[in-house]
Amino acid sequence: VNVLVVYGGESDEHDVSVASGEDVLASLRSSGDIDVTAALIDRDGRWHRTGEGTSAGAAARDVLDDLEPGTVIFPVLHGGWGEGGGLQREVEHRDLGLVGCGSDAAATALSKLQTQRVWAQAGLDVIPTLPVARTEFAADAAAVVRRVRQALPGDIVVKPDSGGSSIGVHMVSAGDEPLPALADVLARDETALVQPRVIGREVSIGVWQDATGTPRATAASLLQLPADAEAGGFTYAHKYEGAGGVLLIPAGLPQLAALQRAALQAFDALGCRDLARVDFFVTSDGAFVLNEINTMPGLRRASHFPRLVAAAGIDYDTLLRSLVAAALV
Ligand code: DAL
Ligand code: MG
Repeated sequence: VNVLVVYGGESDEHDVSVASGEDVLASLRSSGDIDVTAALIDRDGRWHRTGEGTSAGAAARDVLDDLEPGTVIFPVLHGGWGEGGGLQREVEHRDLGLVGCGSDAAATALSKLQTQRVWAQAGLDVIPTLPVARTEFAADAAAVVRRVRQALPGDIVVKPDSGGSSIGVHMVSAGDEPLPALADVLARDETALVQPRVIGREVSIGVWQDATGTPRATAASLLQLPADAEAGGFTYAHKYEGAGGVLLIPAGLPQLAALQRAALQAFDALGCRDLARVDFFVTSDGAFVLNEINTMPGLRRASHFPRLVAAAGIDYDTLLRSLVAAALV
């Protein structure tokens, strides 16, 4: 079995992807029967085959065209082209295997707005969302702010449509002006999403498909934030820079079965494959709402998704091997 692990990438989540990719590589390399090579994509989109000294970097298609037919591409890429369908489409056009979602599902899932539309049509509960286009903001920012505040006068969240790892997520209180948050988000993304702030606990469920193809929902995690973070939510610093925040796994939630059902429906409605982490908010009355899905969730050994799968009795090395095996069929 030949596997090419692709990591890094041009998105804001480059560093997160490098950390994920290094752990995936170490794990797959420790297996005797997989021939693992790696390609690190730099921030300019050039590919560097690790160990082959192509220091100038190559174009994606040159690397992919050079691979042996049947090679499995494992895109350990977060955000942008690598998680959002671009790389997946290149792989689908060739005689190569792919770990994770196909290109259409990946593209839909990377847009939180498109994802919500699909879920709402499938009868799933989503957060009411107001999209703001970059062009519309550039034409008349004051009118956009008036429209946002007429629709959502309370505490709001402003976030990039296709962001990840909490980068660019702004909490704006009822009394505060949303303009700086919109300007920051629209500098990164063509679409900003404005949502009412959901007062609830952040809960996630993993969905994982083994080589037999049956999607399985994992245990749930419950986020416990340090007191100073309650107002600002779960940020990049909490996720990756040791600022605290503890994931309780498995979280013994009374609505676990319903959450697992919703996670599987959310996965299925988008046509996802192999793996995903589905993020919810559970409110104090016990109801829950879907927040988003991550089709290539963080994959460090100690990341959220591998820990959810481990709670189901499948360790990290087994999980990765099984994802590779599923890509071969
Ligand atoms: N976007 C990050 C990597 C995650 O969902 O885990
Ligand atoms: Mg995400």
